[in-house]
Amino acid sequence: MKIAISGKGGVGKTTLAGTLARVIAATGHKVLAIDADPDANLGSALGFSLEEVEKVTPVAEMTDFIQERTGSTKGSYGGTFKLNPKVDDIPERFSLNRDNLKLLVMGTIPEGGGGCYCPESVILKFLLRHILIQRDESIILDMEAGLEHLGRGATRGIDAFIVVVEPGSRSLKTARQIKKLAADLGVNQVYVVGNKITAANDKEFITENLEGLKILGFLDYDQEIVTADRNDQAPFEINQKMVEGVKTIYANLQKELSVT
Ligand SMILES: Nc1ncnc2c1ncn2[C@@H]1O[C@H](COP(=O)(O)OP(=O)(O)OP(=O)(O)O)[C@@H](O)[C@H]1O
Ligand SMILES: [Mg+2]
Repeated sequence: MKIAISGKGGVGKTTLAGTLARVIAATGHKVLAIDADPDANLGSALGFSLEEVEKVTPVAEMTDFIQERTGSTKGSYGGTFKLNPKVDDIPERFSLNRDNLKLLVMGTIPEGGGGCYCPESVILKFLLRHILIQRDESIILDMEAGLEHLGRGATRGIDAFIVVVEPGSRSLKTARQIKKLAADLGVNQVYVVGNKITAANDKEFITENLEGLKILGFLDYDQEIVTADRNDQAPFEINQKMVEGVKTIYANLQKELSVT
């Protein structure tokens, strides 16, 4: 299953991505987790140590490698370079590995943004497309709120978008925007996870404001999750309630996708 996780800043995308990747890996499946947030921090949510995480160089920062693969020269914005660079060996060469879990960190595209045709942007777009379409393990993509990284080519491989929301109007507004963006990119499987639930009417509030988006489940607010983040620990390793909640969400997603 190839799942992209999105939502407003701070709602719990990385918490869900890290826990879901661990839940799937624990069932014996291979999982490739991709940190596509420029402010990368998925590694510790997966349970990799700070030492391990520090060893990872984001793909976008591998200047020499990118030059070699694209045939570009330094700072060659708008110059000529290959638009179909070889990328299929990148996940094996550059990811952090433990058991059947891999982490690949994409990094930040330099000034010019996702729309630019700089070598870094070409590599990242190609790599994502390759991973989503050609690799056969489960893919969990931790994204920022926007979907700029994803061209149509890449989204073809995504089975489901999960938008994380919290019980507040702004994150729900973001969810409705993401639904529209996803539809524009040709993805109609957009689901919601309600996170940081503290009161019974939180669920109602979310349910009533989703305009037709399906809810996969809810996750309670738990101080242990905050503590885990402060201590760079994986929620999977310290909070059984979160693990159970994410297992239910995964089961519901499997059901949804098998009927559609
Ligand atoms: N269910 C929860 N209970 C308590 N705290 C939570 C819960 N889910 C997430 N948090 C906390 O909220 C903060 C933001 O979570 P997280 O980093 O997962 O969000 P994010 O959407 O990935 O943020 P960003 O947009 O910065 O990437 C963290 O401190 C995290 O520990
Ligand atoms: Mg995050």
